[in-house]
Amino acid sequence: MLDLLALALAAVHFGVPLAYYLYATRVWLRRPWEVRVDEGYRPRVTVVLPTYNEAKIIRERLDNIYSQDYPRELLELIVVDSSTDGTAEIVKEWASEHRDLKLVLVREPRRRGKAVALNEALGIATGDVVVVADADALWPPDALRRAVAWLADPRVGAVSCLKRPAAPGPAGVEEGYRRYYNALRVAESRAFSTPVFHGELAAFRRELLERIGGFPADVGADDSHAATRVALMGYRAVIPEGLWVVEAVPRRGYSRWRVRRAQHLAQHFAKALKAVRRAPRGYRAVLLAESFLHLANPLLLAASAALLIASALLERSPVALSALALGAALLGLGGYRAWVVQQAYLLAGMLRNLWSREIVWSKQAKW
Ligand code: GDD
Ligand code: MN
Repeated sequence: MLDLLALALAAVHFGVPLAYYLYATRVWLRRPWEVRVDEGYRPRVTVVLPTYNEAKIIRERLDNIYSQDYPRELLELIVVDSSTDGTAEIVKEWASEHRDLKLVLVREPRRRGKAVALNEALGIATGDVVVVADADALWPPDALRRAVAWLADPRVGAVSCLKRPAAPGPAGVEEGYRRYYNALRVAESRAFSTPVFHGELAAFRRELLERIGGFPADVGADDSHAATRVALMGYRAVIPEGLWVVEAVPRRGYSRWRVRRAQHLAQHFAKALKAVRRAPRGYRAVLLAESFLHLANPLLLAASAALLIASALLERSPVALSALALGAALLGLGGYRAWVVQQAYLLAGMLRNLWSREIVWSKQAKW
């Protein structure tokens, strides 16, 4: 009996995301964008770079932003720093070598998390568009121009990027996970909006950020949550095709990193779910599906595995034994393994949220 119940739970666990993926890629991904993208749109842009101990990468990142093919006179860069490793000194030195770019350095007396840092920048930003730019990412030279082009349409409130890992991660796990998620991000964006944004490049209309009261400081995934609030107001929050950004993957502490991000996504969806009734048409389904995938679905897998083990031990069920053997054997397949590992991170993240929300998180070594 336990074995059949376990198989039913497993069928839901794997069936729902598979069905969602098929529907999203077959139906939504084929929909027209219904957005007027204007590559010639040139608003004033404020790039916000929050930094906590980025001395190793900050110079390269500043150069990377500097070499964007966006008119420099329309650009303003605000670095909000709470480092103890000399990042600020490097920023100052770099600024003195690049006086043709307006750069404002804000030194925080105390580290209070990324969202608080972003809000400090928002308070002094003058651009019509505010773009969050994590230090650990690198943009292609046309990234800013291409992202901004989507905001030419007044119906679009926020734009983010797709992420390509700089390294494949342990046994290619990071890469496998990204393939599935990137396709969903674009499909959801075409349907209306995606509830998952990336701080490596996240552009917002400043006016909308101000209307939602800035970046949420109580949710770790501040970028995703801000984008969701924008979408709940009826504006599109999208990730277009082909806007790729390269993100550094930690060399040590990979699991810690993934668990923390899972924690933040769980916080984000738990809060977003409360507002699902207000979601515009086309967005409600996305929000419900993603909330299910992030909050409920990992629990189904854990319950199924626990029941299978119980059934194998207590009932000596051949069905349970075969299912466990199959589940273990499939771990040899990259995509399946990446999936199961992500479920484990989501579970660990939800559990860990019970005692620490990791709003001010420990830093993983990426260089
Ligand atoms: N000023 C300031 N203060 N900056 C901070 C702080 C802080 O307390 N904490 C982190 N940062 C900066 C980092 O220096 C980096 O530029 C950026 O915020 C992202 O932090 P990382 O430590 O590199 O985290 P990540 O790459 O795993 O971040 C991803 O997940 C986060 C949620 O867990 C990104 O998608 C982030 O945008 C997202 O918020
Ligand atoms: Mn990152």
